[in-house]
Amino acid sequence: MRGKVSIIVGGHYGDEGKGKIISYLALHDRPTIVARAGVGPNAGHSVYYRGKKYGLRMIPCGFIAEQAKLYIGAGTLVDPERFLKEVEMTGTKSRVWIDKRCAIIEEKHKREDRVGKANEIGTTGSGCGPANAARVNRIAKQARDIPELEQYLADVPLEINKAIDGGEDILVEASQGFGLSLYYGNYPYVTSKDTTASSACADLGIGPTNVSDVIVVFKAYMSRVGRDPYINYLSDEEIKKSPIWSRILKEAEENKVQGKTAQEKIAYYFDEKGTVTGRPRKIAEFDYQLAHYALKVNGATQVALTCLDKLFPECRGARELKELSSSAKNFVENMEKKIGHRITLISTGPNPEEIIDLRC
Ligand code: GTP
Ligand code: IMP
Ligand code: MG
Repeated sequence: MRGKVSIIVGGHYGDEGKGKIISYLALHDRPTIVARAGVGPNAGHSVYYRGKKYGLRMIPCGFIAEQAKLYIGAGTLVDPERFLKEVEMTGTKSRVWIDKRCAIIEEKHKREDRVGKANEIGTTGSGCGPANAARVNRIAKQARDIPELEQYLADVPLEINKAIDGGEDILVEASQGFGLSLYYGNYPYVTSKDTTASSACADLGIGPTNVSDVIVVFKAYMSRVGRDPYINYLSDEEIKKSPIWSRILKEAEENKVQGKTAQEKIAYYFDEKGTVTGRPRKIAEFDYQLAHYALKVNGATQVALTCLDKLFPECRGARELKELSSSAKNFVENMEKKIGHRITLISTGPNPEEIIDLRC
């Protein structure tokens, strides 16, 4: 029997908690390969494991599963310095490979990514946009041109397809989110590539007919880092009027968090700051229209919901549906109706095991 390929993608504007869902699936489903797709080190996936927090921009989050081989696909940009630092940090030298054709981010790309249009739209400054532009202009360096990367080079599509043919399961971690797609997001406030499951396949050299599952991750509310004037961020008035948000604001104030406005206080209370840049994220109500569109275009087979415990703290750490409070259960059921899809993974905390797994 051929192996299963499962792709994890973001359904909103990135930072949905893909890192958390991947960490659980890597430990629980025990895939033999965890492969990273997406733009590059503009993404920061957070993983909590054994009391430590990792902010991973290059190495797949699935590294915590020690049986897994780790790959970075040809479509994904590599920052050699960052990559080598993370190899060291995660102790994965003997089991991580990058495709020899990955395009390389150079210092000049990072400098370019902090001025002009990049500065205007508030990019992560990680050099991804300029490096992708160089790649399209056929002037980028490739991984095989960098001597320090030599021992990590591989033909990733060959390795992955051999594994699939041999019956091994593959977990694919995409990055960013549907609303940041170069094609489908609020242009020009977008990243430098499409961010859907189809692009993740192309990044890794996996044919679409080999995909078994596309898991779209949503957070219980939305957050956005970087500029996007088209988003309806929660106003202080809306926060004060909403039963859920006004309760959370009260909790935030009781905890004496920083922030001048109600929006800022909630963002601080939720610890919503960029993994890559440390910039504060802004909070918005769940966008159902965007969610519908994301499910369709990604061809979702499963939906994962994260951060339920932030809206309903009494649910923190729940592992079964019956442990959820009635208001949290109603919230999930209501969301399932509105998005027109069952939610099969419900995350109730940042640690891998804090999850309700309802997959068959
Ligand atoms: P990008 O690839 O940059 O889009 O990131 P991401 O989707 O991996 O998300 P990121 O890790 O940047 O941000 C999510 C934040 O929420 C992290 O701090 C996670 O540890 C945290 N988190 C994820 N799931 C849960 C959850 O269910 N509950 C709580 N309390 N925190 C969570
Ligand atoms: P770039 O990808 O660095 O060019 O940034 C373009 C836009 O996408 C900016 O608004 C960034 O904040 C946003 N962005 C890019 N990658 C991520 C991510 O992984 N999480 C959240 N926002 C991101
Ligand atoms: Mg992130």
